[in-house]
Amino acid sequence: MEPGRLEELYDWLRIPSISTGGGEASDLLAAAEFAAAIIRRAGGEAELVTIGAGNPLVIGELHAISEGAPTVIIYGHYDVQGPGPLDLWQSPPFEPEVRADRLYARGAADDKGNFYPLLIAACELFESGELAVNVRVVIEGEEEAGGESVAAWVKAEGRGADCAIVFDSAMEDAQTPAITIGLRGCISTSISVKAQPRDLHSGLYGGSVQNALHVLQQILTPLLPGDDGNLRAELRAGAEPPSAAELESWQQLRPGQEMLDEVGATSLTSDSGADFRRRNGAEPSFEVNWIEGGAARTVVPAQARAFVTLRLAPGQDAAAMQATLERLLRERVPDGVQLEIESHAATPSLFAADLPAIQIAREAIERASGMKTALIRSGGSIPVVADFAAAGIPVIVSGFGLADDEIHAPNESFVLDHLDLGERCARELLQALAALPQT
Ligand code: BES
Ligand code: MN
Ligand code: MN
Repeated sequence: MEPGRLEELYDWLRIPSISTGGGEASDLLAAAEFAAAIIRRAGGEAELVTIGAGNPLVIGELHAISEGAPTVIIYGHYDVQGPGPLDLWQSPPFEPEVRADRLYARGAADDKGNFYPLLIAACELFESGELAVNVRVVIEGEEEAGGESVAAWVKAEGRGADCAIVFDSAMEDAQTPAITIGLRGCISTSISVKAQPRDLHSGLYGGSVQNALHVLQQILTPLLPGDDGNLRAELRAGAEPPSAAELESWQQLRPGQEMLDEVGATSLTSDSGADFRRRNGAEPSFEVNWIEGGAARTVVPAQARAFVTLRLAPGQDAAAMQATLERLLRERVPDGVQLEIESHAATPSLFAADLPAIQIAREAIERASGMKTALIRSGGSIPVVADFAAAGIPVIVSGFGLADDEIHAPNESFVLDHLDLGERCARELLQALAALPQT
């Protein structure tokens, strides 16, 4: 990537556009304006669209050289997760720094640095009068926060494109680019338990009153996986088993055990490694992410809070699972104890490997990278992908992150060479999509 472009990305990364709490609205706006300016400078049209109290969407247009060309949405998100503990960062999160072959900054991989090559490829093809497809740019600022703006925009537009390209995922490994055909959904739930008006002396009242931490433990325990690693049947409802062909294709990928060993993880069950792809891509999973309450003193805690997530497998109905989860939580609450639940659902997605858009993308990425390209499922979630799918828009989910980019964690980074790799693949992909059948 030429030095001017690199500097531009660094400037974008310098804006702390945090959407998950603690961020400034002015910084989110600045990051949106920054992206819009890139599109306008290339001669394209761009505007910021704000829906309700949401963070601004960047909506842009770059027209194809010839009329009647297919329309392709390119999607990324300018918002980032909070940096977490600053002392764990080797260089400050919003001061991009190159060390060895990597660029370090919050957002370097998720998603500014991953998406930037796609944006630049479209802008440069347009500027040089080569762009073979109509490009609609959609960049959101609420992806990490479960915001509704982009979903509302997609819904209002209807089938406003022949396909979408999302650069917000990772390669299978450094030698294997990937198209992520499956993503899990996610139900994020905040739970609050109130058992008493105030904490009580555990000697004077213990054994006679409800303990908020015990209630929390009691309602969460039935949601944990069983000895076989599976969730209870009600939480697996609708999960579609992978086809024999897909199971077979996973055999060609890196062994799951290797992926667990790489992060030094403790396995849930003895077959967690061997069964990793299926569990991660075709099964739901439940996590208690955070729990709080009580004190290290002799009290009966009055209140307790938790944040939990249920990842949904492709095939599962997000609204139905949201209702099931809420019912399971409420059903064990003792009389008189107050339970408050606030949850938000993102739908899973899965695309057929033989869709024309997926086939074209695979061949284009193979030509541009010179590497065999895998079709994979990811256990992560990108909520807008299901919104595009619901509007009848097939989605090519890709990107050039790696498993060790430390997204959402301290010292997030992106391999510098992958900016060029991403741009090469994006150029080839955009131009190849001119052959997409229009329906
Ligand atoms: N880009 C990630 C998801 C991802 C990472 C997909 C790697 C594929 C490979 C995205 O920004 C993300 O973090 N999504 C959240 C969504 C949640 C807030 C609903 C997630 O998965 O936790
Ligand atoms: Mn992302
Ligand atoms: Mn993320």
